[in-house]
Amino acid sequence: MSVPYVPTPRDVAIEMLRLADVRPGEVVVDPGAGECGIVTLAVTMFNAIGIGIEINPALVRSCIESFERLGLRGRAYVVWGDLFDFDYSIADVVTLYLGSDVNERLRVKLEKELRRGSRVVSHDFEVPGWRPVNTVVVNGPFRMHRIYLYIV
Ligand SMILES: C[S@@+](CC[C@H](N)C(=O)[O-])C[C@H]1O[C@@H](n2cnc3c(N)ncnc32)[C@H](O)[C@@H]1O
Repeated sequence: MSVPYVPTPRDVAIEMLRLADVRPGEVVVDPGAGECGIVTLAVTMFNAIGIGIEINPALVRSCIESFERLGLRGRAYVVWGDLFDFDYSIADVVTLYLGSDVNERLRVKLEKELRRGSRVVSHDFEVPGWRPVNTVVVNGPFRMHRIYLYIV
């Protein structure tokens, strides 16, 4: 599986977290977190606890540096590892920007581990086999982005 690092634009990320109705104290998990832009917004704008999972150590370092810079210790975390090894039962909200094939594989795990009522928001790629409860289109800096909301 190979998913390159392409960050979700800030406005699109904010709309993802809004659409998922992230509330203070909730746990937001971003599998394949890149430089943890979504995790950082979840913590700073929505007062959530943010957890990123990232396989690329250079990006993990970038996450840690920005958490330190912004004083997010204790509220923002990054796990260096494979997103398929994480236990998602802790998550209230999962944010995805991965690709349909990865979403499909991850769906099986999410169905087993997520609690009822947890929300999954996916940027640009549907989760095959699930029906979104809402879909919105956001105008990004260079193109339109589609966001799918699922409720478990
Ligand atoms: C398209 S980027 C999305 C970054 C971030 N979630 C965002 O939306 O801004 C996908 C990220 O997933 C990471 N990734 C790919 N395969 C992974 C795996 N098996 N486990 C953890 N991270 C992975 C890549 O290194 C990359 O940073």
